[in-house]
Amino acid sequence: MLKLKSLTLKSGVIQSPMAGCTDLAYRLLSRCYGMEFAFLEMVAAESLIREHEGTQELMKTLPADKPLGAQLVGCRPEAMGEAAAKVEALGFDLVDLNLGCPVPKIAGKGAGSAILARPVEAKAIFTAVVKAVKKIPVTVKMRLGVQDPSGHEAVTIARIAEECGVDAITVHGRTRAQGYSGNADYEAIGRVKQAVKIPVIGNGDVLSGKDAARLKNTAGVDGIMIGRGGLGNPWIFKDIERALAEKPPLPEPTFQEKKETLLRHLELEKEFRGEKMALLHLRRIACWYFKNVPGVSEFKGRVNIAPELSEMKRLIEEFSPLAAVEAQS
Ligand SMILES: Cc1cc2nc3c(=O)[nH]c(=O)nc-3n(C[C@H](O)[C@H](O)[C@H](O)COP(=O)(O)O)c2cc1C
Repeated sequence: MLKLKSLTLKSGVIQSPMAGCTDLAYRLLSRCYGMEFAFLEMVAAESLIREHEGTQELMKTLPADKPLGAQLVGCRPEAMGEAAAKVEALGFDLVDLNLGCPVPKIAGKGAGSAILARPVEAKAIFTAVVKAVKKIPVTVKMRLGVQDPSGHEAVTIARIAEECGVDAITVHGRTRAQGYSGNADYEAIGRVKQAVKIPVIGNGDVLSGKDAARLKNTAGVDGIMIGRGGLGNPWIFKDIERALAEKPPLPEPTFQEKKETLLRHLELEKEFRGEKMALLHLRRIACWYFKNVPGVSEFKGRVNIAPELSEMKRLIEEFSPLAAVEAQS
């Protein structure tokens, strides 16, 4: 169980914010499979304040899509405070601050992972946000550091966050310099956990219940955040819950179950994005469901040129790994 102010999470398992991935369709679908808490993708504090149309679109939600957190990216303390107050007024259950994004467009402007090396700025942002928010928990999601993989920078920032009244932190066990290469360092996450009393949520490379148990046992974290492991795999939430409760895993989903789930995902994308945008989005996500399935690259090629959503649906319905193997032989 993970308790953050009035928010109690039974499983302590959280879906991370992921740009272009954790949209409304994804979240509603994953909730049907046991996802307890989700995030929108990050939104720029300045765009939220200016009521930028694209940002409002990203923040679209429904009553069934709860509990839900919003993550802010930015570096001006006043803007971060003002945006956090807006997040609360809009009815979100938690506000998170992004101190991990390595993308030059963000970090180059002094936001995201750039703040990891700037404790003075970090303190000003945390202070402004904690002051601006009345009831909901404030959390910070960070990497281990900019270059130094020891976790020293994360420890410094985590202590500042704690002093400022932040309710919990999430640590992705990689530095900004590492990007997504190598393995997330669970021992370094453990060093951050040891340095503070507020809850620490571990993140990085959790692709199964087994990985979650290893992260929990190695780092002693209070919660688990999954990122890429949830894409095309909503079964992971139950798998993790069972592994953490030391229950045996459920059988793997069958190919047919994966296909049916993708078709449900497609219908939800159509409902919320409309046919045209759903078609473009589905080009990315259709293959999430068929990782390592024989014939998936040919399938991807066909899906990428499908001119209509109905054609894409037909391709998914007709995709068979067996037929792909036969065609190759
Ligand atoms: C496509 C993509 C988009 C992401 N978008 C965000 C984001 O908006 N905010 C954020 O804090 N992290 C973002 N991340 C990082 C993930 O939330 C997560 O921290 C990272 O992928 C490590 O976890 P994993 O190994 O479980 O995927 C993104 C990662 C990917 C691959």
